Order: sequence, then structure tokens, then C-alpha cells
Amino acid sequence: AALVLLVSASEDFDWTKNQRTSFYYGTFPTGFSWGVGSSAYQTEGAWNIDGKGMSIWDAFAHKKGKILSNHTGDSSCEGYYKFKDDVGLMKDMKLNHYRFSISWPRILPNGLKSKHQRKGLKYYDDLINMLLENKITPIVTLYHWDLPQLLQERYGGWQNGSMINYFNDFANLCFEKFGHKVKYWITFNNPWSIAVEGYETGEHAPGLKLRGMGAYKAAHNIIKAHAKVWHTYDTQWRTKQKGLVGISLTADWGEPVDSSSQRDIEAADRYMQFSLGWFASPVFYGDYPQVMKEYIGRFLKSLQRNGHSSGLMEKSYVKGTCDFLGLGHFTTRYVTQKNQPSALGDSYYSDKDLAELVDPLWPDPGSEWLYSVPWGFRRMLNFIKTQYGNPMIYVTENGVSEKVMCTDLCDDWRIQYYRDYINEMLKAVKDGVNVKGYTAWSLLDNFEWDEGFSERFGLYYVDFSSKSKPRYPKASVQYYKRIISSNGFPN
Ligand code: NOJ
Repeated sequence: AALVLLVSASEDFDWTKNQRTSFYYGTFPTGFSWGVGSSAYQTEGAWNIDGKGMSIWDAFAHKKGKILSNHTGDSSCEGYYKFKDDVGLMKDMKLNHYRFSISWPRILPNGLKSKHQRKGLKYYDDLINMLLENKITPIVTLYHWDLPQLLQERYGGWQNGSMINYFNDFANLCFEKFGHKVKYWITFNNPWSIAVEGYETGEHAPGLKLRGMGAYKAAHNIIKAHAKVWHTYDTQWRTKQKGLVGISLTADWGEPVDSSSQRDIEAADRYMQFSLGWFASPVFYGDYPQVMKEYIGRFLKSLQRNGHSSGLMEKSYVKGTCDFLGLGHFTTRYVTQKNQPSALGDSYYSDKDLAELVDPLWPDPGSEWLYSVPWGFRRMLNFIKTQYGNPMIYVTENGVSEKVMCTDLCDDWRIQYYRDYINEMLKAVKDGVNVKGYTAWSLLDNFEWDEGFSERFGLYYVDFSSKSKPRYPKASVQYYKRIISSNGFPN
């Protein structure tokens, strides 16, 4: 307590507020779904096997200097070959669902619908069948970042509105082949990251550093593609297949530094609107958030005028295209407004007059960006409830990484993280937030994008130095199993 006081006294705002909330004993509603998540490029390997085409991530990772230690996902966890073992691990954990993604170029090698790969389809069919045999519900993401490279080279990827139809063709094929078995579809995973890190900062594939409107243009095409796929499902498949189509958004919680300051409250709200709201507002309300329009309206508006398929971005077409919201959430930031707002420069993706701060007392076991701030999760869930009319939510990603694994696989901090985050989610459920399921990220250590294999999110440790990529349970596996079997934290 002395330390806490010291820190707060040395700052001009109260670092200590909200630090501790009491533990809540209780269980989740019956039928609450527990799962783990993964994505194709991060785990499958087999990058050029059985006719799979090249994706933008294959191309990006093969360029020297793009990924830490020049790691690639060429073989990764060899999930393509080991999926039976992995479903076995899930069965042992008594999971209710598994969230994974379908690699577009594994099915349509160059992205175009003309020729599809039988073996690629068979791989996913076998995986889905095995899940169902073990009573594990598949939740399938259609785009977890691995765009066919040809579509990037020929058309410029998400800069080009023609992606909307190509993606719709791919999604339609997936509905046709798997829709009688898959009832939960996620169109895009974390479009913020696709747009900003792919087309603005260039840290992710395709590695473009477009200035000006690049990220906004990509985002706009993604929103339209999402809406189109939702309508395709709604008009052509829903009656027969009776499934749901959502989108998965990832965002940190933004908490005002000083919750009694109107300026800080507005700053934190802008932070939320420029991240979550950028996509949530269109799919729920058919338009970008008001504050985005105020700040950068000229970019958003001109996009609407010049949209590829005219009329497609009509409010009513995009509005309501979200049967459930997938939420990826990992951490929190304090937000305040800079005294001297820097002028909007050549980079428009975020509101430049915000400052993000972290509390030095927040634990950060692994990466530099991921601090454990459980109470932020409850606030985030309540924010979604009030902002978007209490939609159905599946938490599609939540978890924590480590950079160095202790040799005895004893990941205490991950146990603590899951315990506290899941407990805050339970409080949110008691607050009336409509959360239906929770997905731990991730089943296995895997290819963490530009961080390569250095950052490990797995419940299972993967020995990447061994050719067979063996998996070993970390201590958190037992802990997560306990939460699942008791459906929460019974007293
Ligand atoms: C979000 C991404 O969707 C996922 O692919 C990534 O591994 C996790 N965040 C952790 O950074």
C-alpha cells in the first residue's frame, strides 16, 4: 500500500484507482461456451502443400527483415498434419467450441473462384467432422489475414473494391461446402489491424506504408465486404443452414486518466470510437462514429462517394449486418488529451491529440504492449452493451503471452491473468452483458506475426526446434480445465 501511495502521490492523477476489485464467486449461465482459438497462418504450416497458393503472409514473411529473427509460418505448429492430436487436446479439456480460420489460398490458390483445391477443402472438412464427432462446435473465421498473394499483386489487395466480390465468392463457397455443419461464421478478424498495420504502418502483410487515406480505404472495403457476405448468407443460406454471421473486432479498453475531467472522458471516448467504433458503428448503425466524421470526415465522405459498387455503402445495407459480435480483448490504456494537439500530419488512422499511458504497477509478463488490467475487460463489455444495444457477444480472443518460458511449464502469471479476466467477464454477465462464450487465445504457442515465435500465447508449449513440433501442457491447461468443468468460480 505504501508503494501504491507513493506512485499516486508522484503523479498528477490517481494511478491507483480501479486497481483492485474484489473476487466474485459464481458461475456462468448454463450453456455458456468455452473454447480456444487459433488461425490458419499462425499454426497450420504446410504453406505450399497440396496445391495451396501463396498468401500475403507467405510473401511477407519470406522477405528478410520483416519478421523478428526472420521466422516464417512455413511449418509453424504443423497443424495441417497434427490436427487430430490437437482436437484430442481440446477433447481432453472438454471444450465446447474451437475457433479457427480457413486459409483462403488453401482452397482458392490465387483467390479466384475458378479452380478450388479438393485437398484444401478436405483438410477443413476432416477437421470440422472430427470436431463435431467430439461435440466441439466449430466457430470459423473466413479472413484471419492471409489474402491470396495474387489478389494483392494484381489489384492492390484491400485498397481495391474488387476484393469485395472475390471475398464474397470465397465465403459463398465455404457456406456451400461447410455451412450444413458450421453454424458460427466470422467474416473478418481484427480489421483495425488489417487496415492500420497492413496499409499504414507496414508492420504486417502486405507491408504497405500508404500515407493519407490508405488505412481508411482498406477499412471501407473490408466493411463493405463484410456486409456483402452477411447478405449473401442471409438471402441464400440462412433458411437452410440456420447459422449466424458476425465479425470479430479487437480493441483495448481506453480509460480516462481523470474520470472527473470532461476533456479526458472525451479523449477516452475518441480512443474507443477510432478503434472499436470504426467498425462496430457501421455494422450496427450503418455509419462511422460521429466523432470520426467530425475529425476526419473528409476522408470518410469521399470514400463513400467513390466506393466501388455504387450504393453498396448505403447505410441500410451495412446496418444490422452482425448476428453476433466477436470480441478480441487483451489490455487497457489510460487516455488523456495532449495539451498541444499535433496537427494531423500524413497519418490519419488515429486521433493524434491523444496520449496513451500505462500504470507502472500493471503486470506485463510478456510483450511490451500487454498489461494485465482485468477491470478494463468488464468496462469494455459494458461499453459494447450500452453503445450497440446489448448485442450477442462471443469473446473470440483473450489471453497473455510470455517471451521466456520457464522450464517447468509453470505459467503462474497466465493462470492469474485468466482467473482475473474471466472473473471480470462473469461480473459483466451479472451486469447484464449478453456474453455467450469465451475463447482463450491460444491453444498452442504459434507464429505471433511480426514477433515470430518469440512471443508465446499458448496454453500448450510448442517445441519449435524439434521437427515434430511436440506440444506440452503448461500449468494453465489444468486451471482452464477447472474453470470449464465448474462453469466459473463456484463458492
Ligand atoms: C490478435 C490477433 O487476431 C491474433 O492473431 C494474435 O495472435 C493475437 N491478437 C495476439 O497478439
